[in-house]
Amino acid sequence: MEYVTLGRTGLRVSRAALGCGGPSRLGQAYGQAPEVSKRVIQRALELGITLFDSAESYGTEAVLGEALAEAGAGDQVVVSTKKGAWDWERKRLCTPLEMQQGIDASLRRLRRERIEIFHLHGLALEHLHYALNELVPVLRQAQASGKLQHLAVSEAFIGDTHHLMLQRALLADVFDVVMVGFNLLNPSARASVLPLTRERQVGTLIMFAVRRALTNADHLRSILAQLVQQGALRADALPAEAPLGFLGDVRDAAYRFCLHEPGADVVLTGTGSVEHLEQNVRSLSAGPLPPEHQERLAALFGHVDSVSGN
Ligand SMILES: NC(=O)c1ccc[n+]([C@@H]2O[C@H](COP(=O)([O-])OP(=O)(O)OC[C@H]3O[C@@H](n4cnc5c(N)ncnc54)[C@H](OP(=O)(O)O)[C@@H]3O)[C@@H](O)[C@H]2O)c1
Repeated sequence: MEYVTLGRTGLRVSRAALGCGGPSRLGQAYGQAPEVSKRVIQRALELGITLFDSAESYGTEAVLGEALAEAGAGDQVVVSTKKGAWDWERKRLCTPLEMQQGIDASLRRLRRERIEIFHLHGLALEHLHYALNELVPVLRQAQASGKLQHLAVSEAFIGDTHHLMLQRALLADVFDVVMVGFNLLNPSARASVLPLTRERQVGTLIMFAVRRALTNADHLRSILAQLVQQGALRADALPAEAPLGFLGDVRDAAYRFCLHEPGADVVLTGTGSVEHLEQNVRSLSAGPLPPEHQERLAALFGHVDSVSGN
């Protein structure tokens, strides 16, 4: 396992991190028993993973807290979690008091006295102003009282494939870490986000490395068709059968593509399967893609900023 200093946080973390959300939520999304999710966390620890990402809305903070406590790993890992500025249930913005209560509830579920990285979750551009003015002061208070160590923000990549919120948020210089969508189908953060994070030494957590499109052939075909329809990809650019076959194992290539991107500190892998985790960690320990594959991907998708890979 490779380790990295996460920008100006100074935190030393593994470059592969376990994501406890996404379509899998440690397998909770498809009804897997909590004991199996705990085995995934346990295996991640054995493989040298030291960064774990969850969120209030994933429903996986408790299982993560329990597994880390049982493994006695509390002090040796970095935990990242999140709460949204937008309350999807009540269909309104979260109040400062609710944010404060949310932090305390996350601490209890995670069984921790401090959360190392706390994100405003999936922040939309239209809520950035409110978040900076009304919620960040609450986060700062929690930071001063030792409950939170570093402030972070994650984007809503499915709707914000151009990274408009992050580009704006980074100018405010409040966040020490950002979570950004980046993959071989939409590498647009390379030009719009990563230069800013590098300049300001903001730590980067890469999400959507594989998501659905790069682990499922049907999803991939439908996203490529979407790009053709948008005029972003020539209809004859790729064969219909195994369109990304030139890469060999697409999933493996997708992780290596992200890990070796200059400015990408940590790549998240979200899974509920020990076997998938082991495969992904192997890919995240392998070298960069051969130059001819990198060049072909740049020619095919280097300009794409309209899909997330979901
Ligand atoms: N806005 C936000 O803040 C936000 C949004 C999305 C994600 N995130 C964070 O980022 C993390 C990573 O993103 P993600 O989970 O959405 O996407 P991801 O890690 O790119 O992909 C996860 C999907 O790929 C599948 N998968 C993983 N490894 C596989 C393998 N070896 N073979 C076949 N399928 C495989 C998983 O299913 P299996 O369970 O079957 O392996 C799951 O459906 C999340 O877990 C979450 O912590 C944050």
